[in-house]
Amino acid sequence: MLNQTVKTLAGFVVSAGLFSGAAFAGGHGAQAEVLHWWTSGGEAAALKVLKDDFAKNGGEWKDMPVAGGGGDAAMQTLKARVVAGDPPTAAQIKGPSIQAWDDEGVVGPPYHVDEVAKAENWDSLLSSQVANHMKCDGFTKYCAAPVNIHRIDWFWANKKVLDANGISMPTSWDEFNAAARKLQSAGIIPLAHGSQPWQDATVFEAVALGIGGNDFYKKVFVDADMSAMSSPTMIKVFDQMRTLKGFTDEGSPGRDWNVATGMVMEGKAAFQIMGDWAKGEFTNAGMKPGIDFYCLPTPSDHGYLYNVDSFIFYSMDGQSKIKGQKLLGSLMMGKNFQKVFNLYKGSIPARLDVPMDEFDMCAKGSAADLNYSAMTGGLQPSFAHGMTLSLATKGAIQDVVTEHFNSNMSSKEAAKRMADAVQDTL
Ligand code: BGC
Repeated sequence: MLNQTVKTLAGFVVSAGLFSGAAFAGGHGAQAEVLHWWTSGGEAAALKVLKDDFAKNGGEWKDMPVAGGGGDAAMQTLKARVVAGDPPTAAQIKGPSIQAWDDEGVVGPPYHVDEVAKAENWDSLLSSQVANHMKCDGFTKYCAAPVNIHRIDWFWANKKVLDANGISMPTSWDEFNAAARKLQSAGIIPLAHGSQPWQDATVFEAVALGIGGNDFYKKVFVDADMSAMSSPTMIKVFDQMRTLKGFTDEGSPGRDWNVATGMVMEGKAAFQIMGDWAKGEFTNAGMKPGIDFYCLPTPSDHGYLYNVDSFIFYSMDGQSKIKGQKLLGSLMMGKNFQKVFNLYKGSIPARLDVPMDEFDMCAKGSAADLNYSAMTGGLQPSFAHGMTLSLATKGAIQDVVTEHFNSNMSSKEAAKRMADAVQDTL
């Protein structure tokens, strides 16, 4: 295996895997149409690593971007394509939707990427939790490949703004509320937020994890437990959402997440609550953690909300596309690819054997916290990013969350409506 490395200005090593994925190198004639929603600056920089690798290995890449953070729009386009009998060669997707598509009979057999996974022994490279998310046919065969692990429950903050106002990173929600009030009276927007349903849901799940705790989170978002949904704890979660709403600015509704990150980068706003793809934006602008910005998990009892970006490989006709799928799978799971891609993306590698020494303090913290929370019950799948629950149940929760956030609905009413809406989807 030959790895050619080139240092970029940011110090990252590019050309992650020239001829990587030994078993499936030489993708001459490989073709792939790749559906994804990575259109922000940081996201595009990360995706370019994969595009370049694919081309270097002889593949022909057809880009199919569907803009829209969180991927709700991409999932609609994907559905239309699959239902029309014309799925893309590879599509960005997450969680139980992978197995749901398999249940429709459009993924396999044969599961071509499973041949790559067996040859490269992916089972030994991934935690069983991540591996299972990638498997079809009753969790026996790989039909998708993971590229990373994103953490959702983060505060991002502008260091200068915090320092100038004598504020340190909050370690409880009360501390956050007090800091936000102080900033607000100093004329600074405390919370940069784009009120789109998926962003409201992203904040909501971090608040639910923090205020409700790990067991509560699991009951609601993994077990869809009705009594937890309409419980007094859920009412408290909605109360905190109402408080947070008061810390956002008038321009918040409809704003894209990366525009909100830009407000923190420029110092127009102090904080953002967002997954660590936000760090990809800071990094892409040359900003450094601890120097230009702060990262800290939102307050919880060692909780960790995870989200694995992955690509599904549907049943395909045509050797060039099957070759494309195998090459993509092999490249995505390449050791050096997982390092370089994640340095840009803000996430951490899905592979367990990638050294973390070139990663920044946020990523190192994320990797350490993941291990700790996995042992202590805090590691939970993100509902807002499709790692748990059916799409219908996720949509039902998200709709109520965003309706509450953007109206005067009481917390009690929101909790009740959530339980009712979820019941209808089960
Ligand atoms: C994905 C990230 C992406 C983010 C914003 C999340 O659901 O996992 O990769 O950067 O949405 O679009």
